[in-house]
Amino acid sequence: MGMMDQDILKVLYTEKQIAARIEAMGMEMYDALKDKDPLFVSVLRGAFVFMADIVRACQVRCDVEFIAVSSYGNATSSSGAVKITHDIQQDITGRNIVVIEDILDSGNTLHFLKQYFMTKGAASVSICTLLDKPSRRTKAITADYIGFTVPDEFVVGYGLDYCQKYRNLPYIGVLKPEVYGGGEE
Ligand code: PRP
Repeated sequence: MGMMDQDILKVLYTEKQIAARIEAMGMEMYDALKDKDPLFVSVLRGAFVFMADIVRACQVRCDVEFIAVSSYGNATSSSGAVKITHDIQQDITGRNIVVIEDILDSGNTLHFLKQYFMTKGAASVSICTLLDKPSRRTKAITADYIGFTVPDEFVVGYGLDYCQKYRNLPYIGVLKPEVYGGGEE
């Protein structure tokens, strides 16, 4: 136990690279959102680190909320059904929602959340994801703001986990296959 770095095969994005990208994203989002009184909604748990950085990089007048969801079925063959385990705490009628995610993978989670917020009366729902993995997409959904487009590798760190660990790595890395019992696929 101890050092997490030894479980990392390679670093995809360093702490500095992440910070620089988020600063640019924040400025882009500021221009788009400055007159929109946005409500930033972070999807727990993976997005908590990114949320803290992106709201400070985007200096708009805004408020923040947190939502937690879980997928039915096992991780590798998700049925696509999503359940809310912690809901936001305010009326969102007429609000411009910006969903903050760490990764857009199959698209199940964000497809569901976009519908959910629109049904609740949001004026708009846009999506901001740090990582986009388009090769894994099964739902027709795209993000409005994307940090990095990543290959289909097992990424951890900066909020992303494997078995709830590695979220506190300050960088994003690829896990060694022997750590998750993977090999040649
Ligand atoms: C991850 C990630 C997204 C979702 C993306 O969450 O944070 O919410 O998966 O995958 P999708 O596009 O296939 O829906 P996870 O279920 O691992 O929970 P976590 O946020 O607690 O890590």
